[in-house]
Amino acid sequence: MTARSDEGDVPTGAPWPEHERALEAGIDFDRANAARIYDYLLGGACNFAVDREQAAKILTQNPDMGYVCRANRDFLRRAVEWCLARGITQFLDLGSGVPTVGNIHEVALSHGADARVAYVDFEPVAVAHAREMIEGFEHVSVTRADMRHPEAVLDAPGVRDLIDTSRPAALLTVAVLHFVPDPELPSILARYREALAPGSVHVMTHGSADHDDPELAASTRAIQDGYRGSATEVVLRSRPQIHELLGGHDLVPPGMVDIVDWPEPTPGARPTGGYAAIATLP
Ligand SMILES: C[S@@+](CC[C@H](N)C(=O)[O-])C[C@H]1O[C@@H](n2cnc3c(N)ncnc32)[C@H](O)[C@@H]1O
Repeated sequence: MTARSDEGDVPTGAPWPEHERALEAGIDFDRANAARIYDYLLGGACNFAVDREQAAKILTQNPDMGYVCRANRDFLRRAVEWCLARGITQFLDLGSGVPTVGNIHEVALSHGADARVAYVDFEPVAVAHAREMIEGFEHVSVTRADMRHPEAVLDAPGVRDLIDTSRPAALLTVAVLHFVPDPELPSILARYREALAPGSVHVMTHGSADHDDPELAASTRAIQDGYRGSATEVVLRSRPQIHELLGGHDLVPPGMVDIVDWPEPTPGARPTGGYAAIATLP
């Protein structure tokens, strides 16, 4: 079984036949998915009626969802800048999504860095647009693959030939893991981290209902309800479960905090219910 990539076919392995069928089938016009819903909520045009209907359902459940998406995107930019400021210029971005304002390679290149960015996503619309956008960039690739297959992703030409595993890199899993319900997820992520050089970091945001504030917990459960019936339903994890996804590694201060509070509280921002953290790899 194979999935398309920039430079060839990426074997995706055997254990998830439903997803492999979806990959083979190409674009799913019948069911909304995370990539296109997120694009719509961010004001993009890479979405279909079915995605807009699902987004309307999510917004009915939680009218703040557009704000949550923008806050997540702002965090991603801050995290990339944080990495660049520490000399980390390579990014492996799992679940990279539809290109939108402030893409990682744009942020990285605007710093004048010799950046390398490997985008990975399994959604064909996101991948097609990303491929168009990166045309002409030498050190940027797009691979269509399911991130649950680390060996296939790491061995894809767009990743293997671009990311220098002898130098630190940032593994980005931003707003993707709550769409991945697999019990094996901790070991899948560990495999990616093992492939990276010491001094690398793992950047994450993740939806959670594990909050002291019951209203905040209810607001993220409402988002979860809004995604029901889509191709990418949401799994909310507790703080300890999210820390486990980071391999229990040391977290950069201030640790695991609301997305708007990393690395320091954004003035006037209300909490999103999503956690952000960056783990350092020994
Ligand atoms: C909400 S978007 C986040 C995009 C980007 N990371 C950001 O934070 O702005 C989630 C993305 O994860 C992708 N995704 C979900 N499950 C995936 C999987 N198993 N493998 C690869 N991509 C996946 C979706 O297709 C979607 O593009």
